[in-house]
Amino acid sequence: MSTSYAPVSEHLDDVEAARAEGRRKMDWALQHMPILTALREEYEAEKPFAGQTIGMAMHVEAKTANLVELLADGGAEVAITGCNPLSTHDDVSAALDAHENISSYAVRGVDDEDYYAAIHSVVAHEPTITVDDGMDMVKVVHEEYPELIETIVGGCEETTTGVHRLRAMDEDGALEYPIFAVNDTPMKRLFDNIHGTGESSLATIAMTTNLSWASKNVVVAGYGYCGKGVAKKAAGQNANVIVTEVEPRRALEAHMEGYEVLPMAEAAEKADVILTTTGNRDVVTREHFEQMKDGVLLANAGHFDIEVNLDDLDDLAVDRYEARDGVEAFEMDDGRRLNVIAEGRLVNLAAPIALGHPAEVMDQSFGVQAVCVRELVDNGDEYDAGVHDVPDELDRRVAEIKLDAEGVDHDELTDEQREYMGSWQHGT
Ligand code: NAI
Repeated sequence: MSTSYAPVSEHLDDVEAARAEGRRKMDWALQHMPILTALREEYEAEKPFAGQTIGMAMHVEAKTANLVELLADGGAEVAITGCNPLSTHDDVSAALDAHENISSYAVRGVDDEDYYAAIHSVVAHEPTITVDDGMDMVKVVHEEYPELIETIVGGCEETTTGVHRLRAMDEDGALEYPIFAVNDTPMKRLFDNIHGTGESSLATIAMTTNLSWASKNVVVAGYGYCGKGVAKKAAGQNANVIVTEVEPRRALEAHMEGYEVLPMAEAAEKADVILTTTGNRDVVTREHFEQMKDGVLLANAGHFDIEVNLDDLDDLAVDRYEARDGVEAFEMDDGRRLNVIAEGRLVNLAAPIALGHPAEVMDQSFGVQAVCVRELVDNGDEYDAGVHDVPDELDRRVAEIKLDAEGVDHDELTDEQREYMGSWQHGT
């Protein structure tokens, strides 16, 4: 395997045009990101990241780019690549690469070899802080560059799947530096996973297929944070939502919410659309494909492209062809066409027209990322190796910045109330 990949600017024909377009996308997003705007002002003045090298593997699009630039303007050297071969916007990547403190290796559509070579190129900058979405960079550092761990202050992880992998690594005693579970904060999970995934997945599927949600049977696999958002917003657009779950309390929650809950084996035959949000593998397999209706749409919003088993589907297919941009039809021997969107990769970022979550939502997630990177720089030596919850006061601060920007005022506890809430000695 090649262990280095050139920066994006060396892969594009018209770099200047790409940079200009990427900058335009970033400027638009930033207008709707008041938290990053406020933090950028503070960090630009204080340069808290001076002397740090931040290695990042994230979805390289306009909102992420504003986080990257904030870190660079706060004094860091930043090297970044993608965390999914189809979510990169080359123009945004090129705009980042033009910044004197940033090297961007993200290029859309790279094969597996170049995807990992680009991660190696980032790691070659010898990061002192890592920021991941899915944990690929942490894995490469631990397995192939353990000598860097000594000088790494810590890291941040953006998504559920990455946090799951990191906790498993931590339990095995294999995680050798502290990492904040940014995904698990209220400011991330209650907005990004629920509203962001719900809105952007449904919007992307509708735009990619030019089809309506009204009256469709939409099967949502997994009723976690993402699944809840997808189910709620699909129901809001007049779809009949069916939920599949393996966790009994979440299945019950979906049932009490009024959705039909079924095993996938029964849901699959009713489905007009199946959208997976489990973070697990083989959720939709051969036995399900065999019973699906002609024309069904299959999409995944979980982190990896393993939820819909495409090997099984390919085995069953007598033909496969591009039905639309971003839609591949798999034709069965009885003539049914099963349509896979965005190669079964996370649909809201990997479909050709996908833009990811709305800017306002990512402002919150990336606001948490920014304050966590700062916490690592200021107090990193107070954290042992392992996965750490983000300190609650940091998350609250990000919420306050957003409420301020929105002009929303709210109550505060009085001293008496605070004392009451913290005490066990009083009864009625
Ligand atoms: P979560 O842990 O809250 O929910 C996952 C749910 O799936 C759980 O309730 C679990 O019981 C259920 N599940 C697991 N295996 C299943 C199976 N075989 N059948 C049915 N249900 C099953 O996780 P969250 O936060 O909802 O994230 C889900 C996935 O989405 C992760 O891979 C995460 O990284 C990804 N994600 C994607 C985003 C996007 O932009 N598309 C944004 C945020 C997260």
